[in-house]
Amino acid sequence: MPPFRAPRGTRDLLPDIQAGFGRLETIARSLSARYGFRQIEIPLFEQTAVFERGIGEATDVVEKELFRIAPRTEESESWALRPEATAGIVRAFVQHGMHTWPQPVKLTVMGPMFRYDRPQAGRYRQFWQWDAEVMGDPGPAVDAEVIEMGRRFYVEAGVPDVQVLVNSIGDAACRPAYLANLKTYFSRHAAELPELELRRLELNPLRLLDSKDPDMTALVAAAPRIADSLCAACAAHFAAVRAHLDAVGVPYRVEPSLVRGLDYYSRTAFEYYRRGAEGQQQALGGGGRYDGLVELLGGRATPAIGFALGLDRVLLALEEVGGEAVREAAPLAIVAGADPADTVSRLRVASLLRAEGLSVRAELAVRKLGRQLETASKEHAHFAVIIGDELNDGNVQLKDLEAGTQRLVPLADLARELSRAAKSHHHGP
Ligand code: HAM
Repeated sequence: MPPFRAPRGTRDLLPDIQAGFGRLETIARSLSARYGFRQIEIPLFEQTAVFERGIGEATDVVEKELFRIAPRTEESESWALRPEATAGIVRAFVQHGMHTWPQPVKLTVMGPMFRYDRPQAGRYRQFWQWDAEVMGDPGPAVDAEVIEMGRRFYVEAGVPDVQVLVNSIGDAACRPAYLANLKTYFSRHAAELPELELRRLELNPLRLLDSKDPDMTALVAAAPRIADSLCAACAAHFAAVRAHLDAVGVPYRVEPSLVRGLDYYSRTAFEYYRRGAEGQQQALGGGGRYDGLVELLGGRATPAIGFALGLDRVLLALEEVGGEAVREAAPLAIVAGADPADTVSRLRVASLLRAEGLSVRAELAVRKLGRQLETASKEHAHFAVIIGDELNDGNVQLKDLEAGTQRLVPLADLARELSRAAKSHHHGP
């Protein structure tokens, strides 16, 4: 047993997994560009209050899953690792006065998030999200645009059968009456409620609908539904979102029990699931409108909507369907030498080729030429550059390992010769 292991719920993304992540990242970046989103980075940790106020104190994410950083001194601010990106992006929106930028502001972040959850398949303590947010557009068209972009991600990534579930959870006008209803309903069943849920009933009864406690399933199923309490404006907004989804050909299912696990949502809420995996708390992604969050974090009232897609779960889904593994590109050439000890020449020639943008590997171990060439073919390199006495006249041997041919090439022409070959083959990253 090695003395140290990656912390529970985290994992090393070894090269094979990382290649899959890289592919998803490329798709996400391409979609961001096509849909007009600009990339930013935000810190991996924030003042704890950003999450407490933004996500809500009575949510699982803040109450149970926040990685709080122990303060270094008594007076230092309290920090926590980011459990998601939305609150931090909104904090940045307010801090940098983005309400003065051309609206809407469309931003995207990709990176690790941290939740102190019980680890299990598809649930990690450090996981990766692709997050996209649009601030400054009240919808409903942009709601459909965001939902459609998320769905396109799964299509392009090759995850089959992704279902879009949508709901409206009302707004400040109609939610209070619904919450009162919900509270009355759950209070009538107070004796059956687990303690945590009883406490939440006081703070935010909506959270009970999202409970992970199996004892709650039946109660939640029979609870009053938000759809029956929507005000006219919210109902019209939701109908228009659906009409826009229809217009762009996004299939979806209205799911009345979908409320999402974070407090900042209003109106549109949505999640993506593999067909048949709904209800297993294993959403591939989710998001919604959060028209009150910018103001809550100190900015001017600004409507907004966004999503976060869980990249670890997408990779798992791809593994399940036996998606094609991502093959890393082979090096174009390896640089070998007849004199095992002459690592200087091998490194120098490799450096020269790399400066020309070519992907080559230098054989720097001190071993016989035959052994050096063996590893070249194992790595599926197309060429071997072999350095020998010819170097004194400024030449090297260029061996085409695929064709089995070999010829003398002036060192001065080597990069050009290899570049030409690289164009007809896919080599390097
Ligand atoms: P969320 O539903 O908490 O929403 O997370 C979004 C996605 O992140 C989930 O659907 C899932 O795929 C992935 N995910 C969450 N927790 C874990 C975990 N422990 N392990 C692996 N994957 C996980 C948000 O985070 C919101 N910020 C989405 C949003 C953006 N709403 C508006 N804008």
